[in-house]
Amino acid sequence: MRVLVTGGAGFIGSAVLRALAAGGHRSTSYDLATDPRDDIVDVDRLRAATAGQDAIIHLAAKVGLGVDLSDLDGYARHNDLGTAAVLRVAAERSIGRVVLASSMVVYGEGTAQCPQHGTVPVPPRTEDDLARGMFEPRCPRCAEPLRPGLVAEDTGFDPRNVYAATKVQTEQLAAIWARESGGTAVGLRYHNVYGPGLPRDTPYAGVAAIFRSALLAGRAPSVFEDGGQRRDFVHVDDVAAATVAALQAPGLTGYTALNIGSGTITTIGEVAARMAMIMNGPAPVITGHYRLGDVRHITADSSAARRLLDWRPQVTLEQGLATLDQGLDQGPAGLA
Ligand code: UD1
Repeated sequence: MRVLVTGGAGFIGSAVLRALAAGGHRSTSYDLATDPRDDIVDVDRLRAATAGQDAIIHLAAKVGLGVDLSDLDGYARHNDLGTAAVLRVAAERSIGRVVLASSMVVYGEGTAQCPQHGTVPVPPRTEDDLARGMFEPRCPRCAEPLRPGLVAEDTGFDPRNVYAATKVQTEQLAAIWARESGGTAVGLRYHNVYGPGLPRDTPYAGVAAIFRSALLAGRAPSVFEDGGQRRDFVHVDDVAAATVAALQAPGLTGYTALNIGSGTITTIGEVAARMAMIMNGPAPVITGHYRLGDVRHITADSSAARRLLDWRPQVTLEQGLATLDQGLDQGPAGLA
């Protein structure tokens, strides 16, 4: 296939370009980092870039958590308006399949188990609780601590920060595009992606990149809360393979959202300790520091992607973390 990859120079985009080439596809990258004219909201330029393409993989976005509300319009421009422009041009060009990067952040914290009340939505934690070191979310009905579980795709949206809100919008626009154009769109809800080429030295980076930068500078990784936050770290090569598989997976119509995780659950404290050991750095420090926009636990049920994309993650956390101190750095970047 001939595939336009927006954000092709980014951390995930670079891995996707490699996976496309390995799969015999022809790709074109559209990325501000390599050509300042590749503005994602520039409809004319997108029209030129999509000429002759069979599909689009839309990864270009402003990523991360956002530093403060001065980022609001930047996120909306790159992520909401950018996706709208890409989909508009896809419709004009009668492109039949669009694969988009979404994120597990669309769930907020999803649902969890209360010993008394069964499955309940997980409310945002209060600043009071966090300040007192009460990090586990509580049942909205009885305030007992909740037991986390795996989040499936039919769990409702509950975005907790600006970036998350733009990813919800990305998915909603894609669903509308699919319905009105008759095309097929696949929104991939990536979990915590890590691997060689992680961005570094940027407040927009995820935790693995931050820990890696600290260790490279000889500093101890600084673990927030008590380190018991649960996540699913999925290797960038596995994410790239899922993304390419979504281009051609048979049997998908309309809009499909899929969780893309490794299936292995780990805690932030464990990741910090493993990285410190592998990189021969100082042991992590548990700081008790917290960020109001953070969720405590978020782990996916990725079985639908395994089934529908015929995809299996190949890289274990142990193998993946061992390669983290190799490979090329992306350098500072807020845009992927
Ligand atoms: C991350 C990404 C999000 C992406 C999602 C899924 C960022 C900022 N967040 O969300 O964009 O959609 O994965 O791939 O890129 N922490 C520390 N020490 C630090 C920094 C963070 O202990 O120095 C902790 C946080 O408190 C949190 C956990 O690590 O509990 C994960 O943080 P982070 O990677 O920033 O965000 P996610 O919520 O996992």
